Amino acid sequence: MFKVAVIGASGLLGRAVVRELAAETAWQVVPTAFRHGGPQQAVLDVRDAQAVSAFVEREAPDAIVLAAAERRPDVCEHDPAAARALNVDAVRSIAAAARRRGAWVLSISTDYVFDGTRPPYRIEDAPNPLNAYGHSKLEGERVLLETSDNALVLRLPLLYGPIVGWHESAVRSLVPAIVASAQPGAQAAPMDAWATRYPTFTPDVAFVIRELLLRCADGEPVRGIAQWSGDEPMTKSDIAGRLAQALGVEARLLAQPTPTDATPRPRDCHLDSSRLEALGMGRRTSFDAAIRAVLDAFTNRAAPGNA
Ligand SMILES: NC(=O)c1ccc[n+]([C@@H]2O[C@H](COP(=O)([O-])OP(=O)(O)OC[C@H]3O[C@@H](n4cnc5c(N)ncnc54)[C@H](OP(=O)(O)O)[C@@H]3O)[C@@H](O)[C@H]2O)c1
Repeated sequence: MFKVAVIGASGLLGRAVVRELAAETAWQVVPTAFRHGGPQQAVLDVRDAQAVSAFVEREAPDAIVLAAAERRPDVCEHDPAAARALNVDAVRSIAAAARRRGAWVLSISTDYVFDGTRPPYRIEDAPNPLNAYGHSKLEGERVLLETSDNALVLRLPLLYGPIVGWHESAVRSLVPAIVASAQPGAQAAPMDAWATRYPTFTPDVAFVIRELLLRCADGEPVRGIAQWSGDEPMTKSDIAGRLAQALGVEARLLAQPTPTDATPRPRDCHLDSSRLEALGMGRRTSFDAAIRAVLDAFTNRAAPGNA
């Protein structure tokens, strides 16, 4: 039986991957979490190399999907050592354990390895990260591919998908400010209108990951670097407008034409997805349809101000 370990199964992307893999009823899926796991998830601190090695030996997976990371740029900027421990050192120990076991590793990376000045970015374009997050993820990519020759880096842009709290994705974290701006007498909510993003739906990424795992199960794993991206360019200000529409609120948004973040961020890192497209892989759900489904599911459980 084909066995897949999903490390970081409690996160935004990891949850979508586990949900998608449930469709492969003949596979065994072993999800792990650290602080937010449920009863079905093994607890694994990926910073503990011995625990990682013991986990891989015990479970003996054929494939490992690594979705655990420190993905918040501001946190990485303030504590680059902690970011490295997760985004670089943990990748090394997982890749080494996988190599010993003969397992294929798919590790998630980011469009922030590029500087955002010359999109679209092809796989072979030179990375040039602007912040500590991008640096740590780029080093993680290199460490993965140096440690194992049976591994794939999958670079992704801004993600959104089913959430457990508004804070969870940079897309939906805009919702409380949008809702507040619609209250009588409220200030307009400032929204970045400088950087272009390609918000990508986590169930679509999970679908791509399942297709990649199917190739691995068939003995034809994709190796090296691949990229996947949504194809609807938007600034955060555009995203906020679409969210307000989906929420049915009269938001007052103030478009910011220059960057306002303390941590430097790239302007436009559009990722070229042609390697996976040429393999016949991929799925793209339209932003409006996806965001309505996400908001409906979440607002049935919590009001924006309460989450
Ligand atoms: N979110 C985005 O917009 C975005 C964009 C591009 C690329 N990415 C990349 O996509 C991947 C997944 O991101 P995400 O948004 O799903 O992240 P997330 O929601 O922040 O989830 C992070 C995951 O890492 C786990 N984790 C944290 N510390 C750990 C530790 N010491 N040991 C084991 N697990 C640990 C968390 O587990 P607990 O919560 O259980 O502690 C959680 O499952 C990351 O590689 C990220 O860099 C994300």
